[in-house]
This record gives sequence, C-alpha cells and structure tokens, in this order.
Amino acid sequence: MSYQTILTSVSDAVLTITLNRPEKLNALNQTVLSELEQVVNDFIARPEWRSAIITGSGEKAFIAGADISEFSALDSTGGTVLAQKGQALFRRIETAPKPIIAAVNGFALGGGCELAMACHFRLASENARFGQPEVNLGLLPGYGGTQRLTQLVGKGRALELLLTGNMIDAVTAFNYGLVNHVVPQHELLTKASALLAVINTKAPLAVAACIEAANLAAAGDAGYKNEAESFGKLIASDDAREGIAAFMEKRKAAFKGR
Ligand code: COA
Repeated sequence: MSYQTILTSVSDAVLTITLNRPEKLNALNQTVLSELEQVVNDFIARPEWRSAIITGSGEKAFIAGADISEFSALDSTGGTVLAQKGQALFRRIETAPKPIIAAVNGFALGGGCELAMACHFRLASENARFGQPEVNLGLLPGYGGTQRLTQLVGKGRALELLLTGNMIDAVTAFNYGLVNHVVPQHELLTKASALLAVINTKAPLAVAACIEAANLAAAGDAGYKNEAESFGKLIASDDAREGIAAFMEKRKAAFKGR
C-alpha cells in the first residue's frame, strides 16, 4: 500500500515505518495519524511481519509533535476527541501482539515523544532530543504522555519535564531509562533490526504474552481519561490560543492564567 506521509519497507520480516514529512519535522497531522493507524492495523493483521520499527525521515527529527497548525480550529470537544483518537491509536501500538520499537533519530517532542513511549522500547541516535513542551502552548500532552512518561522515568523526572517543557539529550534519556540504547545515527536502524532479529527467532505466542503481561503492570485508565478531558478544556482556554498563535507567529507567548 502507498501512503502520502509514510514510507514502508520490509526486510527479514521486519516492517520499517518511516514518518515522512521532513519539511515539518514529521509533525503528526490528521493525515499522518490516519495513515499510521492503517499501517499499524495492517502490521498487526499480517502474520508474515514479525516486528516493526517506527522512525522519522531525515536526520533532524523523529517527530516534533502533533501538528500545532491544526490546533487553532479546535474547541473543547474537538480537543478531547483529538486526544482520545490519538490515545486509541497509541494504545493499539502499545498492545500490539508483536514488537513495535521506536528508532528515535532526532527531535522526539510532544506527540513524537508520546509515540516513542507507546512503542515497546526505544533506541536513540546520539543527536536525539526528548521533551514534552506542550506547557509552552498552554496545553498538556494528550496522547498518553502524562501517563507513560511517569511510568517510564518516575514521577519526579516526569513532572520536571512536563512542567518545564525542557528537552533532554539522548544520554540523559538513557540515564532516565527512557531509551535502551544510544548509537551513532548511521547505526540506528541496523541496531534496531539486530535486536528485532533476535526477537523474531522467539515463539510468537510467548512474545505476545510478554507484551500483554508487561502492559498489565501499568493498567488503569483513570489518568488517560483525565488527560484527554484536560486537553479539551485547555485547548479552549485563552492561554492555549495565545500559546498556539505565538508558535505560529514565531514569538514568545504572554500567558494570563485563564
Ligand atoms: N507542528 C507544526 N509545525 C511544526 C512543528 C509542529 N509540532 N514542529 C516544527 N514545525 C514546523 C515549523 O513550523 C517549521 O515550518 P516552516 O518552515 O513552514 O516555518 C518547520 O517545521 C521546521 O521547524 P523550525 O521550527 O523552523 O526548526 P528549528 O530547528 O528552528 O526548531 C524545534 C526545531 C523542534 C525546536 C521547533 O520546530 C519546535 O519547537 N517545534 C514545536 C515542538 C512542540 O511544541 N511540539 C509539541 C506540539 S504539541
């Protein structure tokens, strides 16, 4: 199948999914999200594909977040619905019965960091940067980031990242346990493929059972529900309108607390 915003290739039963909007740092717009959903569904349905890698096109970004230019049109209900849709897709990735790993080749911000965290585990190139900068827009992460970041790095580190909007580099992400390996960029896909080649020799039912059991360690839906509802409330606030407009106009936001 061919897509507008995604490239796919298969080698040794590993499907590589490359998000391909490098001119917008692979930001997740509606087209990318719906094409990603189709690719993920296809991957899950086809037994000959044993595992998958998600990566970004170009050498600068994995994914620089949700596409902020689409936020301006959203009211509160639209914001909640967007967050719920993204959460459902990312949950589908997390609960896939075959490994989907993130090869983070540059900026993984906002929805990009959230997508990487929904994958079963993560590898990073040396130039990778991670962050949840939604607070700069008057928002919070809406695709599960408040939940998965807390699970992966612990509450204190997660809250520092969520509240400052600061980015961390690949080595810090490794020290936090957010990524399993940091490698030079040209070795990223080779390293990811080598790990998946090992997993692909294992019993598929056992692999699926490990993923399912590990996901149950972090079960509980209250946080996700709350996050999507807050995303809807915040997107209709004056501060979010100001934060989004300031990004689009390339200026500093002036927040007023309402
Ligand atoms: N949504 C929409 N467009 C985005 C984007 C996003 N999340 N991230 C980057 N882009 C666009 C930029 O607007 C720019 O488009 P233009 O060339 O038409 O002006 C292009 O991608 C390149 O980005 P630019 O900002 O010029 O690159 P940079 O190297 O100066 O900065 C970042 C890189 C990642 C620091 C910066 O793009 C950024 O802060 N992005 C937003 C991150 C964010 O807040 N993500 C969370 C969203 S909820």
